Amino acid sequence: MPAPLLPGHSASHDAAAKAESRWIIFVIAVIGLLLCLIAFTSLHWVMMPTQRIETVNPATLHLAGEFTEDNLGSAIEPDGSVTVRVVGQQYAFNPPCLLVPDKTPVRFRVTSADLIHGFIIADTNVNVMLEPGYISNFLTTFKKPAMHVMPCHEFCGVGHAGMWARVKVIDKADFFRQAQNRRRLSCVEQ
Ligand code: CUA
Repeated sequence: MPAPLLPGHSASHDAAAKAESRWIIFVIAVIGLLLCLIAFTSLHWVMMPTQRIETVNPATLHLAGEFTEDNLGSAIEPDGSVTVRVVGQQYAFNPPCLLVPDKTPVRFRVTSADLIHGFIIADTNVNVMLEPGYISNFLTTFKKPAMHVMPCHEFCGVGHAGMWARVKVIDKADFFRQAQNRRRLSCVEQ
């Protein structure tokens, strides 16, 4: 609706129109910059894909490979390090209680059998996402014996709030003693 023509109107109208067009140019420039950034990062990712990415078929996790049920939990590698394999799926982690030693490098290899879940160990800096089709792989060391809660922190459906596990950190010597008798360790039965 045109503004009433008053003395001095035309000058202020022109000033407003100039300010408007300056802002329009500014917004177009910002959008253009963002589009360029998207194009650049997409091309960059296509040309230099992540090297250490590990994939796995979520539909056959339980049938073969390292994530079969009897292979889950903590295992001692030949070099003395510890590997923990975990699968997350609606609405549980398997195993639901992880047993790990303190003061020892612990390698986690975790994946999801269905959709995206969160993997966070309270009171530590462990915080990753589990994506179906990919293996989340990281190394951490627990300082001292403790019991940590491990809730799923990515919304994954109606049972999300009930999806959690525990991580029991025990004395290193005790852990390696228990490992002499068992191929895979967890604290599920404890
Ligand atoms: Cu799994 Cu939320």
